[in-house]
Amino acid sequence: MKQSEFKKRRKHLINRIGVGNIALISSASMRTRNRDVDYPFRQDSDFFYLTGFNEPDALAVFIPGREQGEYILFCREFDEKKALWEGAHAGLEGATKHFEADDAFPIDDLDDILPGLLENKMKVFYPMGRNRELDANLLEWINHIRNQSRSGVIAPTELISIDVIVHEMRLFKSTTELKLMRQAAEVSANGHVKAMQACKPGLYEYQVEAELIYHFNQNGLRNVAYPSIVATGKNACTLHYTENNAKLKDGDLLLIDAGAECDHYAADITRTFPVSGRFTEPQKQLYQLVLNAQLAALEQIKPGLLWNQAHDASVEVLTKGLVELGLLKGKINKLIKDEKYKQFYMHRIGHWLGMDVHDVGDYKINQEWRILEPGMVLTVEPGLYIPANCKTVEAKWRGIGIRIEDDILVTATGHEVLTAGVPKSIQEIEALMQGQ
Ligand code: GLY
Ligand code: MN
Ligand code: MN
Repeated sequence: MKQSEFKKRRKHLINRIGVGNIALISSASMRTRNRDVDYPFRQDSDFFYLTGFNEPDALAVFIPGREQGEYILFCREFDEKKALWEGAHAGLEGATKHFEADDAFPIDDLDDILPGLLENKMKVFYPMGRNRELDANLLEWINHIRNQSRSGVIAPTELISIDVIVHEMRLFKSTTELKLMRQAAEVSANGHVKAMQACKPGLYEYQVEAELIYHFNQNGLRNVAYPSIVATGKNACTLHYTENNAKLKDGDLLLIDAGAECDHYAADITRTFPVSGRFTEPQKQLYQLVLNAQLAALEQIKPGLLWNQAHDASVEVLTKGLVELGLLKGKINKLIKDEKYKQFYMHRIGHWLGMDVHDVGDYKINQEWRILEPGMVLTVEPGLYIPANCKTVEAKWRGIGIRIEDDILVTATGHEVLTAGVPKSIQEIEALMQGQ
């Protein structure tokens, strides 16, 4: 992504903070996996959104109206030995030259420099409660200034969550962001197609997972946006199943919930299909019901409609269908009011999607469901999960778990399905799996 995009975001943030105030945002840290091995580094999404800087041990500071420059980056100094062992890092020079910070200071000097930057500022915007070290340091720095009040300096008086500003910005995707999201969606959709084509009885769930990862990596997307769920048979009823070690059996379904990350932007797709390429009759009936619920929900995704309308549409279709198939008994309205569908559909219709798979952004404003607007991206993912030990339904339904999930962009006139590249009708899935 071009620096100009990050610069535009910083400018917007700086305008929102206002002169006389300051904002701080910290990078993610390296985390040890075991002894000398670290978990792969993933930058904090807010920090990356504003800086494009992909290193740990960094802190960005924004001071509207500061004469020497409004954007300061604290980061690791360039260290030749570190470069030899761990590879490139920007250093102070790189921070100003390549990442367009107005000033760069060593992160090791934070305690000496930051109190001075906080002096005489009224409000401090920061990711409140999300980084214990920053929370604690900030209070220390403020106390340090207070202790010098006799010399005339004033300590900040208001601590404000920066999320309110940054997360609202992140909710609306720019053209550049949508390009990355489209790429994540397209590669992920193709990965699902490959997985469907490779699937057959006798394979293990992890072997199907390998097809997805292979495809993501082959296309340059080396990170998954979240651990892939590859769940056959009743495993699909565990919403966050990630063991992925069971054998696929003829007659069972396979649910795959997987998405790649493209330059920090996520895709999130779920498809459910028969291991052997043909749905059984009960599978077909439940699958079509979930698909009908998804299509009904999608009709509710357009500007001006409320966030929860898609969920309500899915609940209505699923409840009605469950009564028709005999899994629920009673009056539709009462079953909905009493939330009886929740024993089989226990999650909501979806979530915002962006740099985080469950992306930031409020779902309610002033306690009212939010209105959909162009540029928002969300998932639509109804499901039905019939527990294997559910005594209240006929045996033929038990142990079936189905979810269908697509990534949707709200456009000026309606919506665009970013993940349309992977089939979801019964006919299309069966045709693909049988090589037609
Ligand atoms: N993959 C997580 C979700 O669908 O929300
Ligand atoms: Mn999702
Ligand atoms: Mn998902």
